[in-house]
Amino acid sequence: MMSSLLQGRKILLGVSSGIAIYKAVDLLSKLRKAKAELRVILTPEAEKMVSGLVFSAVGNCPVYSDIFKVQEGFIPHTDLSRWAELFAIAPATANTIAKLNAGIADNLLLATALAYPDKPKLLVPTMNTRMFENPVTTENIAKLGSQGWSVVAPEEGHLACGDVGKGRYPENELIIEEMAYLLSEKPLAGMKALVTAGPTRERIDNVRYITNRSSGKMGYAIARALRYMGAEVVLVTGPTALRAPAGVEVVKVQSATEMAGAVDLYSKVSKVIVMAAAVADYKPVKPSEHKIKKSPGEFTLRLERTRDILATLERKEDQIVIGFCAEDRELEKKAREKLEKKSLDAIVCNDISRSDIAFGSEENEVFVYFKDGSSEHLDKADKELIASQLVKRVILRLLSNS
Ligand SMILES: Cc1cc2nc3c(=O)[nH]c(=O)nc-3n(C[C@H](O)[C@H](O)[C@H](O)COP(=O)(O)O)c2cc1C
Repeated sequence: MMSSLLQGRKILLGVSSGIAIYKAVDLLSKLRKAKAELRVILTPEAEKMVSGLVFSAVGNCPVYSDIFKVQEGFIPHTDLSRWAELFAIAPATANTIAKLNAGIADNLLLATALAYPDKPKLLVPTMNTRMFENPVTTENIAKLGSQGWSVVAPEEGHLACGDVGKGRYPENELIIEEMAYLLSEKPLAGMKALVTAGPTRERIDNVRYITNRSSGKMGYAIARALRYMGAEVVLVTGPTALRAPAGVEVVKVQSATEMAGAVDLYSKVSKVIVMAAAVADYKPVKPSEHKIKKSPGEFTLRLERTRDILATLERKEDQIVIGFCAEDRELEKKAREKLEKKSLDAIVCNDISRSDIAFGSEENEVFVYFKDGSSEHLDKADKELIASQLVKRVILRLLSNS
């Protein structure tokens, strides 16, 4: 998760009385795990649904709901609006959204929002589909959007009222991703980046294929980190079990050949290219159209080389190209050979002899070798933090030298 990126950030969570309020408790728990500094405001109606005690215990933080509880000079609506780096309202009811838009300030959450200056603010509208699709609500949300509120759109699905449609509370991971995006500096604003991720699948017949253990987590984390810093990101991904990163164009492929085609297309317009996919080196010469039946004795599968995407990339002078390698011995020697052979600007080397990092793991520890002969060691950390360091310490450095 993107936990490390919210560490120490001051997040004010406003909670109104949508039925998805129990999910806001989980959001708070996740933000606490991410080591964010937290404060919560409940609307009086929200407090009828879930006690402030639950939020306070789960978030290990102060919870406010009474606008008139001024103590020792602390005026909740003005002081909290000044304190926060990010104000998120989740869930945001139709009522709260309408009042926000009208500038009404008849409870602590609304008064705080009105006093909140020009800083990141996020709305998570959740409600019954008919309430959500009512033009009054859609217009209110659109107007708040034009006044600096970022909106995480509700999802479609089964609603508490029994209806099926748009209005469901989105996954908390998505909301946290949006928070990390809003709180990040954007040195890569307007820059196009291409990232590849995941394994490829090379067909043997119509039910079997050759693949590898890549989970795609590292590449997805890099795509997210680039987007947080403002880049327009295309993620070309082999099959993975991962949720698509928000705000990133995702191109799904299966085989090495398909991945090569997608890279050819998107690399032409990308300033930064990060090839983190574990692409198959070999593919069956002639995949069978039908399921291959078993027969006595040995079975030989003939393989041929796939195209080496990195080595054959038609790169432009001003592009930054970063490759990945996975080695189990002589890491530096092999990484530097690949760096040179494939004319890369830098190569990120994973040590796959270790079971605690890299393939499938939540964590990684990498060495980065640059074409100027220098290197960087990124200490063991979760892949989100490694990805953000790769962008800051490798990509920004290469861009500043280019
Ligand atoms: C069981 C129940 C569930 C509700 N769920 C929602 C909801 O998901 N979204 C919404 O906009 N309003 C919902 N409401 C209506 C709001 O609670 C109501 O409009 C309230 O006045 C909003 O106040 P607030 O915005 O200050 O929290 C629900 C009400 C009840 C009783």
